[in-house]
Amino acid sequence: MHPSRDESAQLYDRHFTEMMRQTGAALRACGYDALLLHSGTAPTLFQDDQTYPFRAQAAFKLWVPLVDAPDCFLYLEPGAPAVLVFHQPPGFWNKAADPPEEDWTSHFELRLAGDRAAARRALPASLARTAFIGEPFPELSGFGLAAINPARLIARLHFARARKTPWQIECLRRGSRGAAHAHLAAAHAFRSGGSEFAIELAFLAACGLREQELPYNPIVALNENGAALHYQMLARTPPAGHHSLLIDAGTEFSGLATDVTRTHCARDPDFTALIAAMDTLQQRLCTHVRPGLDWRALHLLAHRLIAELLRDAGIIRSHSEEALESGLSTVFFPHGVGHLLGLQVHDVGGTMLSPEGGEIERPPGHPHLRLTRVLEEEWVVTVEPGIYFIDELLAAARNPPFGRHINWSRVEALRRFGGIRIEDDLVVTRTGHENLTRDAFRAAAAPALSAWPAGRGSPEAAIPTSSAEELVSRGARAASSGD
Ligand code: GLY
Ligand code: MN
Ligand code: MN
Repeated sequence: MHPSRDESAQLYDRHFTEMMRQTGAALRACGYDALLLHSGTAPTLFQDDQTYPFRAQAAFKLWVPLVDAPDCFLYLEPGAPAVLVFHQPPGFWNKAADPPEEDWTSHFELRLAGDRAAARRALPASLARTAFIGEPFPELSGFGLAAINPARLIARLHFARARKTPWQIECLRRGSRGAAHAHLAAAHAFRSGGSEFAIELAFLAACGLREQELPYNPIVALNENGAALHYQMLARTPPAGHHSLLIDAGTEFSGLATDVTRTHCARDPDFTALIAAMDTLQQRLCTHVRPGLDWRALHLLAHRLIAELLRDAGIIRSHSEEALESGLSTVFFPHGVGHLLGLQVHDVGGTMLSPEGGEIERPPGHPHLRLTRVLEEEWVVTVEPGIYFIDELLAAARNPPFGRHINWSRVEALRRFGGIRIEDDLVVTRTGHENLTRDAFRAAAAPALSAWPAGRGSPEAAIPTSSAEELVSRGARAASSGD
């Protein structure tokens, strides 16, 4: 059951209280009294009057689900009223956003400001014991701040971000439902013969988000394009044949990111079996997710299991331990098994040793692992094993010591499928984990949703399926007629 609107407000109340407690402790440890956060601005293109899409910075959206409001400030001082200075520029070229009115605003004194000078006047007269976090802007030097982006304070806040509050976890549940719904629509567009672009349109329509509202640009890769780990080309025309789709795409709900990958095969039984084997492997890895798990051990276990899978599939000839020791498994699985997830898709602090900083080293030979810490309750992680047929890595592997351990005719036959990745988002619970992604896929068929405010990125925000399908087929027609 999802919480009711009242319960959601209570979850936010607890979130606010906990963030104030954590921030107060971090401020005290670093010798400040208050924190000033800026939401950010949309940068302007070179010699142009156009801007890049606005993205609220993570330290700001940690506090408020306000993701599309540039130039806003939060003033946070433990024991004093929290202040939200909401930017409402005058002028007739744009429509200024209405000040937020949702339940969470009861925690803030709301002040409106038309420009930065007005914003400064809306803040306390002295900021001499206030630290600022955000992208600096020219007027900031006149604000009289104690510090701008102090590294020690940021380290403490980043370290703490691994643990999510129940409100954040509920937002992730909601976002996961949107992601599952959108992945099903994307799979349907693939099976209907859509281009990469049409498949992405189907995803966007189904979760009701524009691309700039997603936590990262979707990876929508047909056939051999699945071998590019962060593929971004979005071909407008469908390929001659649809062999496979690797789609890595997440939603954002109230500032919290989901990160989900599925791989589909059109009809080849051999590659379909390989996807099923990877799915089983991924589920086996998930069973290990619980408090106390050293993430480096899970990464190395993923390599052992992937080496077994590759051997069983006739792709390599080495034994599992040998393939791990020699580095052969990294030819096919070059990225990390997962990472922290939250306000950023690759959330901060994944390799931090302590709130003071320091680094927990990655295992030698695994430079791309983004998480090296030991899991604790209420952290959110992705589990995302994969195998890929990457030209660059395969070309290098033809030489000793790997060349004779690889079945090259098998690799040649599989290249056209690109790769496989299966990625779920998991909350670490007291005794194990909750798999947000699998739960959401299971629930995707169930229509009833609760009174929790229908945020962008949830299934309720979607364009109804029939018009979404019409959009997709229009996109496909436009692509094929060269419009
Ligand atoms: N979507 C990027 C990743 O899976 O890490
Ligand atoms: Mn990921
Ligand atoms: Mn991903």
